[in-house]
Amino acid sequence: MSFDAHAANLTIAVIGTGTMGRGIVQVAAQGGMRVLAYDEKMGAPSMAKDYIARMLAGQVDKGRLSATDAKAAVDRISIAHSLEECAKAHVVIEAVVERLDVKQSLFHRLDMLCPPEVILASNTSSLPVTAIAATCAHPERVGGMHFFNPVPVMKLVEVIGGLKTAPWVLDALMTIGRRMTREPVLCVDSPGFIVNHAGRAYTTECPRILTEGIARHWEIDRIMTGAPGFKLGMFGLADMVGIDVGYAVMESLYQQFQYEPAFAPNPLSALRAAGGLYGQKTNAGWYAYKDGKRIEPEIAPAPKPLPQSVWVRPSADHGDLIAPLVDLCKKSGVVVEASAQPSKTALVLLGQIGYDLTTAIQDLRLDAARTVAVDVLFGLKGPRTLMVTPGIDPAMRDAAHALLASDGQPAIVINDSPGFIAQRVVAMIVNVGCGIAQRGIASPVDIDKGAKLGLGYPFGPLEWGDQLGPKRVLHILECLHAFYADPRYRPNAWLKRRAMLGLPLTAPEGRDR
Ligand code: NAI
Repeated sequence: MSFDAHAANLTIAVIGTGTMGRGIVQVAAQGGMRVLAYDEKMGAPSMAKDYIARMLAGQVDKGRLSATDAKAAVDRISIAHSLEECAKAHVVIEAVVERLDVKQSLFHRLDMLCPPEVILASNTSSLPVTAIAATCAHPERVGGMHFFNPVPVMKLVEVIGGLKTAPWVLDALMTIGRRMTREPVLCVDSPGFIVNHAGRAYTTECPRILTEGIARHWEIDRIMTGAPGFKLGMFGLADMVGIDVGYAVMESLYQQFQYEPAFAPNPLSALRAAGGLYGQKTNAGWYAYKDGKRIEPEIAPAPKPLPQSVWVRPSADHGDLIAPLVDLCKKSGVVVEASAQPSKTALVLLGQIGYDLTTAIQDLRLDAARTVAVDVLFGLKGPRTLMVTPGIDPAMRDAAHALLASDGQPAIVINDSPGFIAQRVVAMIVNVGCGIAQRGIASPVDIDKGAKLGLGYPFGPLEWGDQLGPKRVLHILECLHAFYADPRYRPNAWLKRRAMLGLPLTAPEGRDR
């Protein structure tokens, strides 16, 4: 099939002009394409066109767009009064309600109305494109084009190939995505596509840590928005999205992935959803809100007395990560013991990767009462994470806290956990990203792009794994897996092979080289 996605006269029909549809109309028109806007609700397309005109006028006022370009974009939008009129378009993009029966019957009608060279695309966020195409006589011209909300702001679009989608359709949708000034990524039809699949680790591991009583929800948020660099903590984000909405997505994806343990939703979120504590919109979720503003819990001030002396365990493998911890101890004025073993009274600090502290204490025959672990993987930018076992002497815990906060950075004391908090969350993100690559759902480049642009992560899962070192990430997961004996933490084959071969996580499979 020859389809000219670069054609100057390319016309896009958008069905459904709600939140998403109007955004798609806007970016298509701004991308220089003619647009037909249709909605079953009378008057909705004109309202959408007026809304877009106001949005573009706002851009003109801010000096981001010329008045001529704004007018030209609005002039390219026409209102369609029937589905039949949309059959004149070269591409039809559907953005109606998220119900398989509604989408299937709409695609069946479009399939009958439109000549076979017209591309039909769905903006579905959670339904299989293959299932939507199942009622069409020409399923090869059906693909997914999943935009993100708000469309004009979110640059990413996922282009999805169903089992029967023809390659020319995917090529054309990628080109059209670029013409809309989006950043298209290509993936096969799979639950959650790239972005919602890649997002499973952050949204399930943070509540898992909370469920185990390792730290409070707001401490987990503070840690993740500190050194690892997340823009939003998981719990704050869940409150913004709505715990009801987020939990439904979690359950649906868990089901679609045939109950994969790594994607299991957690009972604490379920309870909030059941109790109507949805987040910002109900003034109560993970956080409490007053007049729509989040009430920020205070980090307790650090205790005062410093330890008399400290012994930092050296590490052949992680010496580079431990050096800043030794520097910090020296700067605090506390005596830093240089002996091979700690003295009988020293605070013992372990800057460790992966292991839980109890296992480390047992393996290294250390004194649990005065041994504290510090997360050094992401550097020492605060809030710093200190980890203690049930065997800790509270005075030693407080002395370690005072020492780690001695330069004014906040420190948070957590209960024992393999991989602290940041290490295990990021290792899970890398692992899930590797799983997407291993299943051949998308290329490593597109997985990384999807997570950065769609989820706002500081790095893509595979590039993050490469920065931290695939061997280290593998080690964290192995520690989690060994400690919990939970298949949730089994390292993915993609990660394992590349770590063992000393290759970057972006390395393609052998047959694809
Ligand atoms: P919405 O409720 O804001 O808009 C849907 C529009 O479709 C309404 O104007 C409605 O009148 C119209 N409509 C419903 N059935 C129709 C039919 N049979 N024929 C013509 N028009 C029909 O919904 P929203 O949020 O824009 O979602 C649309 C689609 O985009 C859904 O599939 C959703 O899953 C997906 N999506 C939504 C995102 C979001 O954040 N809202 C993000 C990404 C995808």
